[in-house]
Amino acid sequence: MTDAPTPEPTYEKLVFSGMQPTNTLHLGNYLGALKNWIRLQEQMPCIYCVVDMHAITVWQDPVELRRATREVAAAYMAAGVDPKRSILFNQSQVFAHAELAWIFNCVARLGWLNRMTQFKEKAGKNRENSSVGLYVYPNLMAADILAYKATHVPVGEDQKQHLELARDIAQKFNVDFGAPGFFPQPEPVITGPGTRVMSLRDGSRKMSKSDESEYSRINLTDDADTILQKIRKARTDPEPLPSDAKGLEGRPEAENLLNIYAGLADTTAEQVLSEYAGAQFSTFKNALADLAVAKLTPIAGEMQRLLAHPDEIDALLKRGAERAAERARPIMADVRRLVGFVG
Ligand code: AMP
Ligand code: TRP
Repeated sequence: MTDAPTPEPTYEKLVFSGMQPTNTLHLGNYLGALKNWIRLQEQMPCIYCVVDMHAITVWQDPVELRRATREVAAAYMAAGVDPKRSILFNQSQVFAHAELAWIFNCVARLGWLNRMTQFKEKAGKNRENSSVGLYVYPNLMAADILAYKATHVPVGEDQKQHLELARDIAQKFNVDFGAPGFFPQPEPVITGPGTRVMSLRDGSRKMSKSDESEYSRINLTDDADTILQKIRKARTDPEPLPSDAKGLEGRPEAENLLNIYAGLADTTAEQVLSEYAGAQFSTFKNALADLAVAKLTPIAGEMQRLLAHPDEIDALLKRGAERAAERARPIMADVRRLVGFVG
C-alpha cells in the first residue's frame, strides 16, 4: 500500500492589493492594476488598501501624505471599488501589517532582499543613504497579503518579483514553525494588455509617478484637454500601424500606444490592429485620445465629487480598517502562538 499524498490545504479565495499614496495615480496604475481589481470584485471577496506605510519608505511631507491617502482612496472608488462589498482602508490603521512585517523581517534572508530589482532602481547610487524601510519594503508587502491569508494579488508586471518573495516567505514560515500549509502561496494576477504601460516619451521606460516629465504619463485627474495634448505629443515613429503584432517588434512606442488603446477598450492589441492596420499615427492618436477622454474623465469627475467630502472618506477608511482588523485578528493570534510569543 502506498501512502496517500497529503492533501493540499484549501484556502478561502481572497484578493488583496494596494497602491502607495505618492503623487497622483496614472494610466499605468489604472490599466495594470485597478481595472483588474474592479473585475475581481465580481469573483471573490477583495481587500483593497492604501499603503501609506509603504509610502514613507521614501520621505513624504505629512500634509501631502494625508491628502494623497484620501485621493488614492477616492480614485479606487471612482474607478469602481465598492466599499460596501470590498474592504477599503489605509494600511497604518491596522497594526497587524507592522507586526507581521517585523516577524517576516526575521524570516526573510538578506540574500533574498539583495536580489530585489526595485530596491536597486529606487535606491540607485544613493544606497547608503536610503532608509532601511525601503530595503525591507517587500517584507511589509508580504505581511499585507499574508495577514489575511490572501490567495490572489492583482498587480502590474513590476510587482512580480515582490510576489515571488512573498511566496518564499510564506513557505519558509510554514517550514520553520512546523505549520505546513499555514500560509497560502499567494498567486499574482497579472493580466490584460496594460500590465506594463510605458512612458509616453520613452518606450523603454515604465510610466511612473516619479518621472519628471508630466508628458510621460496620463494622470487619473487630467482633464480632457490635458489628455488630448499628452497623447498628441506622445512619441511615435514615422511608420503607419502594421497589420499584425509582429510588425510592432522593435517599435516600443507604437506597441505601447496600441496596448493602451486595447486596455482602455477592453480588447486585445490584435483586435485593435485589425481595425487600424495601415493607419497613420495622427489618425490613431485622435481615436486613442477620444477613447481615453471617454474612459478617464468620468473617473476624474467622480474623484472631485468624493474629495469634496474628506470627512466621509476618513469615516469610510476607518470602517474599512475595523473590518480588516477583524479578519486579521484570528490569523495573527495563530501567528503569535506559532512563533512562541506569550499572551
Ligand atoms: P505604485 O504606483 O508603485 O504604488 O503601483 C501601484 C500598482 O500599479 C502596482 O500594482 C503596480 O504594479 C501598478 N503599476 C505601476 N506602474 C505601472 C505601469 N507603468 N504599468 C502597469 N502597471 C503599473
Ligand atoms: N508594492 C506595491 C507597489 O509599489 C504596493 C503594495 C504594497 C502591494 N503592498 C501590497 C501590492 C500588497 C499588492 C499587495 O505597487
